[in-house]
Amino acid sequence: MLELVDITKIYNDTTILNNLSLTIEDQKTLAIVGPSGAGKTTLLRIIAGLTAADGGTFLWNGQATTPAKLRKEGVIGVVFQGFELFPNLTVLRNITLAPTLQGQAVAQAEAKAQALLAQLDLSDQAQAYPDALSGGQKQRVAIARALALNPQILLYDEPTSALDPNLRQSVANLINSVKAQGMTQVVVTHDMAFAQSVADTTFTVAKFGGDAQ
Ligand SMILES: Nc1ncnc2c1ncn2[C@@H]1O[C@H](COP(=O)(O)OP(=O)(O)O)[C@@H](O)[C@H]1O
Ligand SMILES: [Mg+2]
Repeated sequence: MLELVDITKIYNDTTILNNLSLTIEDQKTLAIVGPSGAGKTTLLRIIAGLTAADGGTFLWNGQATTPAKLRKEGVIGVVFQGFELFPNLTVLRNITLAPTLQGQAVAQAEAKAQALLAQLDLSDQAQAYPDALSGGQKQRVAIARALALNPQILLYDEPTSALDPNLRQSVANLINSVKAQGMTQVVVTHDMAFAQSVADTTFTVAKFGGDAQ
């Protein structure tokens, strides 16, 4: 369980997140919803340890921690809005790059990557380059890449936004199948209907927009 307590974020004298507290429960899917510009991506980046909060505390299983520490320990994985695959690397290499940079043997990383590709119905794309893939396939590669690092929490930023609207249901099915394997997930989305199709609980980020004190 990851708890965020009184998180504040200020950009250029504007308060984006104001004393925000929320709990990410194990093996559940939490949807973070709210209008464009409310601070959803900012919150996701803070949870991921990619952006520092200006105030607040974090508890991981009851112990004080920092997202930067959790990031270093590989607790949290991220599927970015635009997927951010490496265009010059094959699908397989996109997935094995981080584990091998962390010291995992190439054969072991490749075996794990092939297993993930099979699970995500992408085995025939292992040697393809990202540009040759459809949006839905790119997203599945991005999920496989995140899962290859064995995170305990997987974050998604707007997982439906870069895809054709008729893929919404298949993205929901994918998130629900990852959940069935025991993953804790946080899904940032402005799409309420989509949120309802995946979430155990929903947290709304309101547009605060107050001037920082
Ligand atoms: N790196 C940044 N520097 C300055 N302002 C930022 C930065 N990132 C986001 N913002 C501002 O913070 C607000 C929230 O942005 P964001 O978290 O992207 O919202 P959402 O994902 O809910 O659309 C916006 O007003 C945005 O312009
Ligand atoms: Mg956003």
